[in-house]
Amino acid sequence: MITIINGPNLNLLGKREPDIYGSETLEDINSWLMKRFEGVRGYGDSAFDGVWLDFFQSNCEGEIIDKIHEAGFNPQTGGIVINPGAYAHYSIAIRDAIAAVPVPVIEVHLSNIHAREDFRHKSVTAPACRGIISGLGKEGYALAIESLLA
Ligand code: DQA
Repeated sequence: MITIINGPNLNLLGKREPDIYGSETLEDINSWLMKRFEGVRGYGDSAFDGVWLDFFQSNCEGEIIDKIHEAGFNPQTGGIVINPGAYAHYSIAIRDAIAAVPVPVIEVHLSNIHAREDFRHKSVTAPACRGIISGLGKEGYALAIESLLA
């Protein structure tokens, strides 16, 4: 199983600043990912023909932390992909949760945070992650999943 966590305001994809984040909803992106990894052999239930993708979105820091703990200590989990949204820029608590779990975590941002406002240039969560992908849109989630499966 690969858990994909999206943080605050990402539930508004499609209507939120479409010039930056595009016109697709989070549901569109999640369906696209499920299709993309259909038939790819993954972790967990051997009867399942494909990677078992577990999608989670929350606007609340504590709920995101709880999900990292739950997925991160689940022996079925092969890795976590997280777009922490703005929490990436200041949540030491999410950074610590990522550092606390034994599974690899990859941080994804739809936009290129280094090409935007100064306050977005720093990610406090990224150093606790195996890697970070920023600026490649929804493709970033797929590349992160591929890397966890490799
Ligand atoms: C984001 C970038 C963050 O700076 C921003 O706060 C978001 C979305 C992205 O996916 O590009 O909410 O994480």
